[in-house]
Amino acid sequence: MIFSKVTDLIGNTPIVQLPLPQADARLYLKVEKNNPGGSMKDRMARNMIVAALKAGRIHPGGTIIESSSGNTGIGLALAAIEFGLRFIAVVDHHAAQDKIAIMRALGAEIRYVKGDYGENEVAVVERQRMAAEIADEIPGAIFMNQSDNAANAGGYADLVREIIGQVGRVDAWVGCVGTGGSMTGIAHGLKVHNPDTITIAVEPEGSIVFGKPGKPYYQSGTGTPDGDTVGLVLDYSCIDYGEQISDACAFETARYLARRFGLLVGGSTGGAIYKALDYLNQGIISGNVVLVIADGGEKYLHTVFNEEWLKARGLISPEVWDRLDSWFALPASGEPLS
Ligand SMILES: Cc1ncc(COP(=O)(O)O)c(C=O)c1O
Repeated sequence: MIFSKVTDLIGNTPIVQLPLPQADARLYLKVEKNNPGGSMKDRMARNMIVAALKAGRIHPGGTIIESSSGNTGIGLALAAIEFGLRFIAVVDHHAAQDKIAIMRALGAEIRYVKGDYGENEVAVVERQRMAAEIADEIPGAIFMNQSDNAANAGGYADLVREIIGQVGRVDAWVGCVGTGGSMTGIAHGLKVHNPDTITIAVEPEGSIVFGKPGKPYYQSGTGTPDGDTVGLVLDYSCIDYGEQISDACAFETARYLARRFGLLVGGSTGGAIYKALDYLNQGIISGNVVLVIADGGEKYLHTVFNEEWLKARGLISPEVWDRLDSWFALPASGEPLS
């Protein structure tokens, strides 16, 4: 098929299955990193812009502002080109540098929050304050505010339709929570189709979505940091289990998947896959277990995939590899994957 614009490449992503030892379970990963901006967020970003245009909140030639850890910003930059909009992204130093570079390459104007923050501290409160302030200063500009924007969760309707078309019955869904938009949109959609779908939401240790104490974390794009409020877009009623994952476990799982399967995933996806395998191993879930590859490891080559960076932060955990070896059905050493 030949498409006339890059945003037509959003969606219709493939699924890859990883081998499990359980006879009654299949692990399916929907490769959302194949979207043109490299993440699932392309879907919701375009949907937020379409909704704002339809509602008359923004007009071609206007300006959109968003506070983003990167992936939403990349999706907005793509959709801004499609609809002839100016895009200003408010970011902090926690965002992966490559994501910011991609936004800039796509024509986004980048504004950094001011103030001293640790490299593992997300300045989301200040980001949002600054984004709202810039939107107030520019006539006709709007702050997209993904955490409270219903079109965020609404942007995953096609993703749900695609999963059901590709997999059929979904017995378990495991996803990350940041704003909660993807979890809410996808979990709701899957439960409409099959009310028995078990949904598991994973946040970084240190994120406050499930009421645990806050502390800094390195996982990028996911979780709600201490001091922030959980987004209005998150509907807890569609989540059966809320889980936390350490940076070390999430990153080691991402590194493991790259080495064992040639699959480059980001840290948040590593964490979700680790928890899915843990639940499978405990027998809490079985059947068709589905996740997304929210974004690719290509965006974290200087952090998650840099051994020196990990070592300096105490994030190396070889025992995670042993656990993962026992949770996958791997060929004997030297044998091909299938
Ligand atoms: C890589 C990655 N994982 C997880 C999330 C969390 O998704 P959501 O905001 O839909 O909860 C994001 C959000 O930006 C992300 O970029």
